[in-house]
Amino acid sequence: MNQKPIEVAILGLGTVGMGVYKVLQMQKDEMPYKIGTELKVKKVLVRNVEKAIKKIGDESLVTNDFQSILEDPDIKIVIEVMGGMEPAKTYIMESLKAGKNVVSANKDLIAMCGGELLDAAKDQKLDFLFEAAVAGGIPIIRPLKQCLQGNHLTEIMGIVNGTTNFILSKMTQEGMEFEDALALATKLGYAEADPTADIEGLDAGRKVAIMASIAFNSRVTFPDVYTEGITKITATDIRYAKEMGCHIKLLGIARNTEAGIEVSVHPILIPSNHPLATVNDSFNAVFVHGDAIDDAMFYGRGAGELPTASAVVGDVIDIARNVQYNCTGRINCTCYKNLPIKKMEETVNKYFLRMQVEDRCGVLANVASVFGNNNVSIAQMIQKTRNGETAEIVVITDAVQEKHFNDSLTIFKGMSIIKEISAMIRVY
Ligand code: NAP
Ligand code: HSE
Repeated sequence: MNQKPIEVAILGLGTVGMGVYKVLQMQKDEMPYKIGTELKVKKVLVRNVEKAIKKIGDESLVTNDFQSILEDPDIKIVIEVMGGMEPAKTYIMESLKAGKNVVSANKDLIAMCGGELLDAAKDQKLDFLFEAAVAGGIPIIRPLKQCLQGNHLTEIMGIVNGTTNFILSKMTQEGMEFEDALALATKLGYAEADPTADIEGLDAGRKVAIMASIAFNSRVTFPDVYTEGITKITATDIRYAKEMGCHIKLLGIARNTEAGIEVSVHPILIPSNHPLATVNDSFNAVFVHGDAIDDAMFYGRGAGELPTASAVVGDVIDIARNVQYNCTGRINCTCYKNLPIKKMEETVNKYFLRMQVEDRCGVLANVASVFGNNNVSIAQMIQKTRNGETAEIVVITDAVQEKHFNDSLTIFKGMSIIKEISAMIRVY
């Protein structure tokens, strides 16, 4: 073998960057067989050089000067695993302009600017790949962009946030309240110091925007996604769900309907025998429906050092092969449609509504009449606890337009017989 090695630069040496460095070491001897030459890390960009040298022990690789990477003609692939919007976006754009292929795990950036980055790669006939940006180690971007191209895809549903799935699993299996399960997730290192992006559904929202864009060939950005987190879910709701034969999961849901794309993240009651209900702890899974494949599910580790690095290095190998055959830029932006995005109020869902109401004659009839006047059909009404003053009622609706359900809620909030609206959760 006398081919020149393919040289890469890693931007960022945190959890994912270190994982990428390790996986490239683990695969070192295999590379000549996999890509026809060696794959060499030429530079690692960080802010804190001393810290990075301690981590990898090779001073010659570490730099805090991005220009030295940009100006090195031998670096063919830049691996952006720094995160954040800037300077990540500028570094990716400049790398592409300088003729370097890019791999990124940066869902925040791609969910906002994916189209722009892919167009920049296309202009230069280069690859811009980001398998790790959605569901970490689980292959889903490549299956959507390549293996499933023979389908008209109509639905993607995913558990794409490990922290919230861990919390909901603990609440379900051990009857914990949300705050206790979050504290456990933090203690075990699943939840970040600031868990807002996870527990409010923002992290999942970014991932579902990326998946929907690819699956439906039409650009969906993060602001298009309706997001609702799990902070209001209680052990009581989980108990009711169990009694109804359901689990509560935080799902990212994207549907390709005649009237446009529906795209949301929210907690949902799903039947316990649905494949996604069996995905527990910090595992992720993505469920896809297409006209040819029918149903397919992808399951695995959605985060973590080595699982995420597995996806990044897969992209690097793909690009290295393309570099060897001089065919980078074959697959770029696949958004050739411009489909409308539906407002959440236009979507049709079933609802679980738990309320504390006055415990007296005629109250249930009043609740039923508000729903009836707003075109909301009741599928089930449960009253299990009452103390003479207050009764807890749970209503399950048929599938109704969200706007009609919200109109009913607005009326309930102004009624003196309704003491508290304790929970509203959509039902699959
Ligand atoms: P992290 O642990 O916080 O590491 C970030 C690294 O980037 C650090 O080494 C930091 O260097 C470096 N960095 C940040 N800003 C920089 C700058 N301006 N110039 C140079 N270096 C800079 O983050 P991470 O968890 O590895 O995540 C990286 C990316 O992967 C993010 O986009 C994240 O969303 C994505 N991702 C992460 C996971 C996961 O499991 N963690 C899974 C999927 C995707 P210093 O330490 O010197 O500041
Ligand atoms: N914070 C994410 C999760 C991992 O809990 O799944 C990074 O995408």
